Amino acid sequence: MSNLFEVLKQRRSVRKFLSKPVSKELVLTVLEAAGWAPSAHNSQPWRFIVIDNPTIRRELAEKMANAWIIDMTKDGCTVDEPKRIERKERFITAPVLILACTTLKDLIQFGDEERQRIERDLAVESLGAGLENLLLAAHASGLGACWYCAPAFCKEIVREVLKIPDEVEPAALIVIGYPAESPLMPIKKSVSEFCDLDVWGSSY
Ligand SMILES: Cc1cc2nc3c(=O)[nH]c(=O)nc-3n(C[C@H](O)[C@H](O)[C@H](O)COP(=O)(O)O)c2cc1C
Repeated sequence: MSNLFEVLKQRRSVRKFLSKPVSKELVLTVLEAAGWAPSAHNSQPWRFIVIDNPTIRRELAEKMANAWIIDMTKDGCTVDEPKRIERKERFITAPVLILACTTLKDLIQFGDEERQRIERDLAVESLGAGLENLLLAAHASGLGACWYCAPAFCKEIVREVLKIPDEVEPAALIVIGYPAESPLMPIKKSVSEFCDLDVWGSSY
């Protein structure tokens, strides 16, 4: 059990990797761990695409980087060009690149919009649980990984490049590799900041 707590505490978002390849076996191990996560009604609404084709990677990274310019321009912001290029290159060069999606295909169909929206939220939450398992399994295997939310902001572009059907929603890109950096833990809130200990056992 203490080992689990060490893994939980020591996992960090790792964004720089050695060029050392990651074996297919190890990639399958972390994907399997993702599949052990809890999910609403055990729906397991996650889908993962391991993107290893260099041409597709480049096309995806370039189109996503261009979509970012459009979004920033809409907001009246100037694009941080070095950051944009760095992020694009990261998706191209990361030893392993996995697109994480939520599938809406097997969701329970409710008769009203509100419950349907909640059911969709539950699928997104379930994917989060799967992704946390994946990140922890990567760390426990000596790998580093980082979750990037960019695909959530340009779903249609990601769908088009990877020919993803409508009922599958691109959510995140996960980069994985052997770490070339050891980030320190960023500031984390203490329990008393996110749990009101004074009202333990009573109301909010
Ligand atoms: C939903 C989600 C989206 C994230 N998106 C990004 C991202 O787009 N770019 C990035 O560099 N890190 C991203 N991260 C990683 C966070 O920045 C990171 O988890 C946070 O700074 C805490 O650091 P830690 O993971 O080392 O504890 C994301 C994490 C989550 C859970």
